[in-house]
Amino acid sequence: MKLLVTGGAGYIGSVVAARLLESGHEVVVLDDCSTGHEDAVPTGATLVRATLRAAASDVLSGGFDGVLHFAAKSLVGESVEKPGLYWDKNLGESLALFDAMRVHRVPRIVFSSTAATYGEPERTPIAETDPTRPTNPYGASKLAIDTTLAEYARMYGIGGVSLRYFNVAGAYGTYGERHTVETHIIPNVLKVPLGERESVSIFGTDYPTEDGTCIRDYIHVVDLAAAHLLALDACAPGTHEIFNLGSGSGYSVREVIDVCREVTGHGIDAVESPRRPGDPAVLVASSAKITERLGWKPERDLRAMVTDAWAFASR
Ligand code: UFG
Repeated sequence: MKLLVTGGAGYIGSVVAARLLESGHEVVVLDDCSTGHEDAVPTGATLVRATLRAAASDVLSGGFDGVLHFAAKSLVGESVEKPGLYWDKNLGESLALFDAMRVHRVPRIVFSSTAATYGEPERTPIAETDPTRPTNPYGASKLAIDTTLAEYARMYGIGGVSLRYFNVAGAYGTYGERHTVETHIIPNVLKVPLGERESVSIFGTDYPTEDGTCIRDYIHVVDLAAAHLLALDACAPGTHEIFNLGSGSGYSVREVIDVCREVTGHGIDAVESPRRPGDPAVLVASSAKITERLGWKPERDLRAMVTDAWAFASR
């Protein structure tokens, strides 16, 4: 298929673009490189360096079979400080993309949604039918995009799939996480053995969990990429489907740091710190729906994620 990958210069977008190329697809990347990196765009993909608002219509006028939409602002804290930026960049630019798809009759799209659409869950593991009550503008803007996509699917016959990622980690060879502002736990922990910081902070040790720290559901970026390829084939005209993507089991912050110690062989210093505002205690996905409907199953565990992230970070 001829595919447009928005945000293909970013962490997840670049990994998926690489896997799509390896599977024989033709890939055009649309990315303004505001947070992504030009050199992360895989060889073989064409890069159009522009915003969706400026270029989606022009690019899609060339005729495409589908879109994978990763381009987004994704920092929860920043979204609380600058809600307008998140509504404008996430919802506004997505709307421009969906409208360009309508005009140029692009039949399918796989969209990067997030566990942040659920907010503080009532129960775990979280199913797709559970209430969506985002607790920050980032999650709210992603939920609004899911809703908009459902309307575009219903009205214009587009086949849409929203994949709600839980905690994505790991790397794929030379493609990995390189954020200027790094908030995620694994790359931050790995900065200690890399000599880039003295210690890592554990945000909150008084949560109602076994060891007092937050529990998250980690998924390897390569398993995530595999789900995108399956979702692309599953886009049915006029329908919008939502699938959670996680492993169904969780690890605490302390457990993550322990795995990082084992994999790197370094005694990583961890400092118990106050809670980070807005962090739910436990976020674990039920991925039963995608397993049942698309046959997807995660194949790589937390150790594999840390091993690959460490190989990437220390290369
Ligand atoms: N944490 C630390 N120390 C750090 C960084 C994180 O203790 O230096 C903790 C956090 O408080 C949290 C856990 O590690 O309990 C995981 O934090 P991340 O920042 O790695 O991931 P989040 O669960 O906060 O965020 C992820 C995605 C977001 C998404 C959110 C909810 O990165 O995009 O899940 O779906 F919004």
